[in-house]
Amino acid sequence: MAKILVSGGTGYIGSHTVVELLEEGMEVVIVDDLSNSERKVLDGITSITGIEPHFEEVDLKDRKATYGVFEKYPDINAIIHFAAFKAVGESVQKPLVYYENNLLSLIHMLEAMKHFNIDNMVFSSSCTVYGEPDVLPVSENAPLKKANSPYGNTKQICEDILQDTINSTEGLGVISLRYFNPIGAHPTASIGELPIGVPNNLVPFITQTAAGLRESLSVFGDDYNTPDGSAIRDYINVVDLAKAHVKAIRRLLDQKQLSAFEVFNLGTGRGLSVFEIIHAFEKSTGQKLNYKIVDRREGDIEKVYADTSYANDELGWKAEKGIEETLQSAWKWEMNIQSKH
Ligand code: NAD
Ligand code: WQD
Repeated sequence: MAKILVSGGTGYIGSHTVVELLEEGMEVVIVDDLSNSERKVLDGITSITGIEPHFEEVDLKDRKATYGVFEKYPDINAIIHFAAFKAVGESVQKPLVYYENNLLSLIHMLEAMKHFNIDNMVFSSSCTVYGEPDVLPVSENAPLKKANSPYGNTKQICEDILQDTINSTEGLGVISLRYFNPIGAHPTASIGELPIGVPNNLVPFITQTAAGLRESLSVFGDDYNTPDGSAIRDYINVVDLAKAHVKAIRRLLDQKQLSAFEVFNLGTGRGLSVFEIIHAFEKSTGQKLNYKIVDRREGDIEKVYADTSYANDELGWKAEKGIEETLQSAWKWEMNIQSKH
């Protein structure tokens, strides 16, 4: 049975991925310092799968503690590295915190992989590396644009670190997955996204507004060069996204590929505008949403959506869930959170 170390495994995407790995019969060791997640996420994972994953509360900035995990679990076959800070605005305010956390965590992981002879890693990257693409849908070969936030820059630097490490390490295989906009929650509503404070992202803000926690949603700009004037993104269901990680792990373990760095886009291939998301939410949940149009948000791009053909053909993965089902899952999760407060 494959044993997978999942860093950031109590986080939003990590927890959904742990569920999929366990359901595929893999053994999971979660490493998380709980800096942006809660221990009770483990209960959610266990209630869905009936399996309690191993959990180590470790800060990956701590090299010694990181090595300690590998000493405790000497038979790890592969790593999925989710652990990172991800708030774009906060990264502009605290760049050093972001560079320190996101780069050091990866470096310590790679050092440990070398020391403990582990050959396989799946890395969480982001469509943010494309900036505002010249060609849509954007493919993995598109040129990367200068990052418009320290957060985005950490993803570009991490990909460079991975490529350079592969060039110098025989037998190392890394798959970098560039997520577009992950949304929604597990259909059981036992796990989901837990934004701290006022959400920056669209869908958590929508569900909190519908739940009455926020007065109204601000639509950031209706004067973009898009059919309805609002900005366009590729919103991908988090469970679909999680399943892609299982495919990536299997690809690494089965192929036994030598010194390869592969990159895959994970999106639906379909761009949706902010207004389309609002209307799909209202239609699928029956909730009326208060919203107002305000100025554009600084740093936002106009439109981005994925060319998913490489992931479809090569990884054998395709997004399956529709936007309405996905928004319903986000709403069910929000109601679940509210019922507990
Ligand atoms: P999240 O914050 O919910 O999960 C990240 C987890 O990593 C958290 O549980 C946090 O406690 C943990 N962590 C952070 N620093 C750590 C450290 N030094 N040591 C140990 N644990 C640490 O975020 P998420 O949305 O699940 O994102 C997971 C990954 O995917 C991140 O790398 C993120 O940059 C990337 N990503 C996210 C999105 C998105 O929109 N959510 C989009 C593209 C890429
Ligand atoms: C989506 C759309 C907003 C909130 C961010 C990161 C990116 C990646 C995914 C990690 C945009 C609009 C939003 C609101 C709005 N994360 N919006 N009102 O900005 O596409 O991407 O998350 O790698 O790096 O930048 O996602 O959910 O913030 O915004 O109108 O209150 O919704 O302008 O068009 P974004 P988002």
